[in-house]
Amino acid sequence: MEFNASSVQLLKINADSLVLPTGSQLENVAKEIDEALDGAITSLIESGDFSGKASESCVLLNLNSPFQRIILVGTDGASNPQKMIKAIEAGASAVFKTPAVSAVWAIEGLAEDHDWQASIVARSTMTAAYQYSGTGKNPEPKKLKTVTYWCANKSDANTANQGLNYGGAIGNGMNTARQLGNLPANICTPNYLAEQASRLAEGQVNLTTSILNESEMEKLKMGSLLSVSTGSVEPGNLIVMNYKGADSSVKPIVLVGKAVTFDTGGISLKPGRGMDEMKFDMCGGASVFGVMNALLETKLPVNVIGIVPAVENMPAGNATKPGDVVTSMSGQTIEVLNTDAEGRLILCDALTYAGRFDPDTVIDIATLTGAVIGALGKFTSGLLSNDDELADQLLISGTKSGDRAWRLPLWEEYDKQIKSNFADMANIGGEAGTITAACFLARFTKSYKWAHLDIAGTAWVSGPQKGATGRPVPMLMEYIRSKTVSELSLIHI
Ligand code: BES
Ligand code: MN
Ligand code: ZN
Repeated sequence: MEFNASSVQLLKINADSLVLPTGSQLENVAKEIDEALDGAITSLIESGDFSGKASESCVLLNLNSPFQRIILVGTDGASNPQKMIKAIEAGASAVFKTPAVSAVWAIEGLAEDHDWQASIVARSTMTAAYQYSGTGKNPEPKKLKTVTYWCANKSDANTANQGLNYGGAIGNGMNTARQLGNLPANICTPNYLAEQASRLAEGQVNLTTSILNESEMEKLKMGSLLSVSTGSVEPGNLIVMNYKGADSSVKPIVLVGKAVTFDTGGISLKPGRGMDEMKFDMCGGASVFGVMNALLETKLPVNVIGIVPAVENMPAGNATKPGDVVTSMSGQTIEVLNTDAEGRLILCDALTYAGRFDPDTVIDIATLTGAVIGALGKFTSGLLSNDDELADQLLISGTKSGDRAWRLPLWEEYDKQIKSNFADMANIGGEAGTITAACFLARFTKSYKWAHLDIAGTAWVSGPQKGATGRPVPMLMEYIRSKTVSELSLIHI
């Protein structure tokens, strides 16, 4: 897809389709176009064919204009970033329902900020273009080739171009995460993920990948992580991707993404219904791949290390049993009361390993608990952190990118619930499963600023639209970008 911003006169832009977001009250460019078309839009609104309500769309053909079609997209009620994003996403999918090859977006009177608005146009276009492929007939390629973002003046066009680059990269990153998530577990194994990580670094100067295999993890005494993969014939890997966009003196942000390529529950076997969806239990890891991809594209001046513990959780004769005690890399012992609480067992060793990089901040991303769906539903990721400022920054990044999280507490009353009579801690405990899981992780993250994102509700959708969402790539990228802005402004001071 080719994106570009332009401030030439709208009717002179070379595109077959005009995408025109507007409410029922025509203003600015929508009004001008309506006048140029002898009130065609007004009559659609009067006849009730187009209401202008957010996310509604309507296609006009046979126009006396340079465009073959005009795609109206409703914006009434799109009063916050979340709703504006939904409206723009509706417009982006409407474009793909037509045979448009080149489209120009003319959005005035929605968001003030062209950087942000253009980024959402590019991101939504990329995510709407995504089609799963890899198992079965290849889908027909989409027709749309170029997207122009129109703005009234030239300086806005420069800002918009930055937004288009950034948003296009986020959309690509989300699609990377979605594709890995959607692939079945017999293809997307821990070794497959390791290969993808090595491939991502091929020919790149600012990305290196290294893979720790099981014997290397044994040497590091990662007994907790290895206790999960022992029951599987697929060997586990610890994937480390190192993106260097800034001077080596700048401390890295470390992202740790859970990648259980299939979670049967192990000996604490899950019920059969819907178990196929446990192929998505690697979406935390997939989001780290997505961010790495987006960083390569945007070349943001930051250092980010992605750590992806990748394992398969299977029952077997040599699988870990409830009651087994394992020793983590940190030296703390864990009584595995439930082998289905395996995410925290792999994350704890990866989080201890993260300490080696002298991190500025560590964020882990995991489809960790079904309980987070009970608490927040499928719209909002759970956020838990040992640092208030970091938590606030992530919440803001979520709001700005329309990829929201909500914070839950990490108080000691909850931590007490993972007490064990036979080890330093148990791997499950009592009520508030999302919080006790995070309390478990918090015992391994005391030496740095840390946040945990529980994406069990947000990483994929079930039902007829079943598929990975690419979340929380937008939130993480917004957070990373906000860090570069503050660092740059520090330099100016
Ligand atoms: N991968 C699951 C979490 C999950 C469950 C995500 C359902 C999405 C939908 C995780 O490994 C798990 O099984 N967690 C258990 C923890 C329990 C045994 C304490 C859960 O949530 O049931
Ligand atoms: Mn599990
Ligand atoms: Zn799991």
